[in-house]
Amino acid sequence: MASQTSSAMLVLFLLLHMVVLSTVESKPTAEIFRNLVGCRKGHIIKGVHELKQFVKKLGYLIHDRGKHGMDEEFDEDLESAMKAYQANYQLNVTGSLDDATLKQMMKPRCGIADVMVHGNKNSKSIYPFGAARYEFFLGNLKWPLSKTHLTYNFQSSVQVPLDEDMRSVCFRAFERWANVSRFTFEEVPEDYFADIEIGFYSGDHGDGNPFDGPQGTLAHASPPTGGKLHYDADENWSTNPGPDEIDLESVTVHEIGHLLGLQHSMATDAVMYAYFESGVTKRRLNRDDVHGIRALYGLL
Ligand SMILES: *[C@@H]1O[C@H](CO)[C@@H](O)[C@H](O)[C@H]1NC(C)=O
Ligand SMILES: *[C@@H]1O[C@H](CO)[C@@H](O)[C@H](O)[C@H]1NC(C)=O
Ligand SMILES: *[C@@H]1O[C@H](CO)[C@@H](O)[C@H](O)[C@H]1NC(C)=O
Ligand SMILES: [Zn+2]
Ligand SMILES: [Zn+2]
Repeated sequence: MASQTSSAMLVLFLLLHMVVLSTVESKPTAEIFRNLVGCRKGHIIKGVHELKQFVKKLGYLIHDRGKHGMDEEFDEDLESAMKAYQANYQLNVTGSLDDATLKQMMKPRCGIADVMVHGNKNSKSIYPFGAARYEFFLGNLKWPLSKTHLTYNFQSSVQVPLDEDMRSVCFRAFERWANVSRFTFEEVPEDYFADIEIGFYSGDHGDGNPFDGPQGTLAHASPPTGGKLHYDADENWSTNPGPDEIDLESVTVHEIGHLLGLQHSMATDAVMYAYFESGVTKRRLNRDDVHGIRALYGLL
């Protein structure tokens, strides 16, 4: 009797432990970071470790093997990472975690890491009134020039209420890119081979980039020729978003840009800008997006 009780207790304990671990792992951010506001180089505060992991995931902390690696010290490498982030997003380049930087970092966004922008290396001639802000993946990853017709299908592991609308949303999103590039797109049945597989996933879903529950990361997609577009099933997705909802079509147009080879643009009104606001739609490609895809593949 006693041993039965204690093994039941042990199982309960293990289960609780797993639940606690998984919640901690998926949501390290907002509250922890609020305690870090004002934190800067030289400070050693609990939570800096999480900040390092966070900026690393966004693509800014590359030298993380220095003296302080991923410990709780706000070191030089983290300061450089913060400065690069602040420069990219037109914040004051303080190198510390200030309110404006925290606010930017907590906005919902695409899960693909940013590229660090070193000056405006793109041709200025097409932009008489400002520099191009589009970017490509490292190595200019793209589909072979002969591959202009791409097929896609739906492979969700999680059912979401929007399943019915997915086909028309994706059709329109692909059409926007087809209209300005050499690509054509076609939906094929679930059990056919497709160049692009689209689906909703929750938490850890086997590709090394676990989703983080509500807000934070909304979706991610692979660069050419990976062909995977994943949405975080834990967001409030909508085709006509209210204030707490994310517009499915806007995010889809953005993720297709990644599938074709575009990286994040620092132009706030470009579809390829990494951040999204709840309740806002941004479905139309702007000229930075169009110039980007044409610079990668040539004109129509
Ligand atoms: C940048 O710093 C100036 C001067 O401290 C301040 O007035 C301004 O609001 C700051 N801008 C941002 C985006 O934080
Ligand atoms: C694509 O172009 C066609 C022909 O110009 C137009 O009718 C259609 O509305 C465009 N689609 C989108 C989603 O912009
Ligand atoms: C989803 O919508 C509900 C109801 O409007 C809201 O309370 C909740 O905060 C929203 N969740 C997210 C992740 O925005
Ligand atoms: Zn993105
Ligand atoms: Zn994924």
